[in-house]
Amino acid sequence: MRLKNKVAIITGAGRGIGKAFAIRFAEEGAAIVIAEIDLANAEHAAKEIEAKGGQALALHTDVSDEASTNEMAKKTMERFGKIDVLVNNASIYYGIGARPWDDRTPDEWDRIFAVNVKGSWLCCKAVVPHMIAQGGGNIINLSSGTHFSGGGRLIHYTCSKGAVISLTRVLARELGGHNIRVNAMAPGFTMSEASREMPGNPPNIEELISQTRCLKRSEQPDDLVGTAVFLASDDSAFITGQTIIIDGGGVFL
Ligand SMILES: NC(=O)c1ccc[n+]([C@@H]2O[C@H](COP(=O)([O-])OP(=O)(O)OC[C@H]3O[C@@H](n4cnc5c(N)ncnc54)[C@H](O)[C@@H]3O)[C@@H](O)[C@H]2O)c1
Repeated sequence: MRLKNKVAIITGAGRGIGKAFAIRFAEEGAAIVIAEIDLANAEHAAKEIEAKGGQALALHTDVSDEASTNEMAKKTMERFGKIDVLVNNASIYYGIGARPWDDRTPDEWDRIFAVNVKGSWLCCKAVVPHMIAQGGGNIINLSSGTHFSGGGRLIHYTCSKGAVISLTRVLARELGGHNIRVNAMAPGFTMSEASREMPGNPPNIEELISQTRCLKRSEQPDDLVGTAVFLASDDSAFITGQTIIIDGGGVFL
């Protein structure tokens, strides 16, 4: 119960890695807000948590829309009275396809940045005033190992995940005085539904990437939850502005 009595908003937690975070955070005692553009998935995940005795609220949220992120913070406060942790996990990743750097349209580029970068910033903007008022808080942003490797043939996505590290560092500097910590996680290629169904990858991608790692196996969403719990808990109380790579030793900082 390392997150007992904490309230955590996890964006995009209706499936994949975010859902794995939500389930484990609830098992560790946190009340969870699943802020999702896909409300049906969010409700399904919330029911799963409640069936195991946890507390969860499913909200329809578009992180790229300021009115929607403000509503997310407001409804969280109405239901749970505080916000201890924000996990900026929502992202455009599913279906983007591995393609060469110049085979992307400006619209694709803009949509990725609107959700992955502006969306994370908007969620912070909505939540931080409540964290300041309550004396502190904790933000975890999802970056990606592609920022370090340059691999994956996902130029717009990779650039957005580099910007997430910049966001993490700026906010750590600007919010530390309010006792708000901001860190990032950079997973390697993780076998969520989105990765399994990524167009453009060879059928043996899981095996190919496993062989590039120190630890020669594929990465699963559950490989990430321990680090997220650590960052969300008081065990990491003096860590801020950092990015932790979780990829079995695929790339080094
Ligand atoms: N799977 C990987 O290999 C991998 C590697 C590195 C980083 N990541 C990051 O981990 C996170 C989760 O990845 P995943 O594999 O579970 O991907 P995913 O595409 O399955 O999950 C993303 C979730 O975000 C939601 N979402 C999309 N747009 C949204 C919006 N505008 N507002 C609110 N919610 C929105 C989706 O509905 C989905 O549930 C993402 O930030 C991703 O970039 C994934």
